[in-house]
Amino acid sequence: MLPLVDGFGRVATDLRVSVTDRCDLRCTYCMPAEGLDWTPRAQLLTDDELVRLVGVAVSRLGVTDVRLTGGEPLLRPGLPELIAQLAALTPRPRIALTTNGVRLAALAPSLAAAGLDRVNVSLDTLRPDRFLTLTRRVRLEQVLEGLEAARTAFAGPVKVNTVLMRGVNDDEAVELLGWALDTGYALRFIEQMPLDAQHGWRREEMVTAEEILATLGSAYSLTPAPGRGAAPAEEWLVDGGPATVGVIASVTRPFCQACDRLRLTADGQVRNCLFAKDETDLRTLLRDGADDDALVAAWLGAAASKRKGHGIGEPGFTQPDRPMSAIGG
Ligand code: 5AD
Ligand code: SF4
Repeated sequence: MLPLVDGFGRVATDLRVSVTDRCDLRCTYCMPAEGLDWTPRAQLLTDDELVRLVGVAVSRLGVTDVRLTGGEPLLRPGLPELIAQLAALTPRPRIALTTNGVRLAALAPSLAAAGLDRVNVSLDTLRPDRFLTLTRRVRLEQVLEGLEAARTAFAGPVKVNTVLMRGVNDDEAVELLGWALDTGYALRFIEQMPLDAQHGWRREEMVTAEEILATLGSAYSLTPAPGRGAAPAEEWLVDGGPATVGVIASVTRPFCQACDRLRLTADGQVRNCLFAKDETDLRTLLRDGADDDALVAAWLGAAASKRKGHGIGEPGFTQPDRPMSAIGG
């Protein structure tokens, strides 16, 4: 194995693979109401191409974890078959998925049967009117059904990711945690990052981890849960545990120094950071007939140039050209 090491000694073992940049929601912090110019089909990796690239990463480069993202990954046709191919790789990677949950009720059983190990579901509100304001679609009912289906289909706890926005849903933090404690979902709050296609992010409008913890602390006692590792979420025991709540403070307490991630976009570009300026084009290499050694070299080169940190808030910071939906969460 040749580890995917960078200039700061970090080793990437967790590969995030975007399988489509399309989405069936229109979250206001992600994309405009009319959607985006989706990547033309010919530029998207086929299943075979994607499995080949991930196969090299798993068998030659020490990648142990694969997370499928989007856009909304459940919009990719034939996703269970793709997962089955990934699960057949040697050594078999752990396979996870981040979804908006809209189509999960129908798909959860076949995804689990294909070898998907875990899912994270994004949900920012439990109120139908707010869900409509936030996502511009009437789908809350489906997402809640999707969560139920996931609980039945997958072994571990289902994680729920929530982005709080000032004046939109920041008054719902305590209610969301109460719901998560009742239902058994593992809730994590994520600070909003400057990754929206509209470039409308303002630091002042972001609800910080500190604020979130203060709000939750008014209703529950929170104590640090042991053992964080490379996981970006700081976990807190709620009322002494065993239930926990996570806070992902990407902006105010960056975890770049412990980052073990690398990203592959749906059109076959490696990005070594959400905020990277450069990409490594594996699709063209692949389609030009590169052998595995050439792909290994390209993966290693992509990992090596990873910057020390994302630099949000530093002078000269600019948002990446690609929005989150075209990078993968
Ligand atoms: N900042 C933080 N999280 C975001 N997500 C999407 N856009 C942003 C952003 N700008 C979240 C989604 C989902 C995951 C893929 O990333 O809500 O949980
Ligand atoms: Fe879709 Fe996720 Fe973007 Fe919402 S945040 S529009 S669910 S890709």
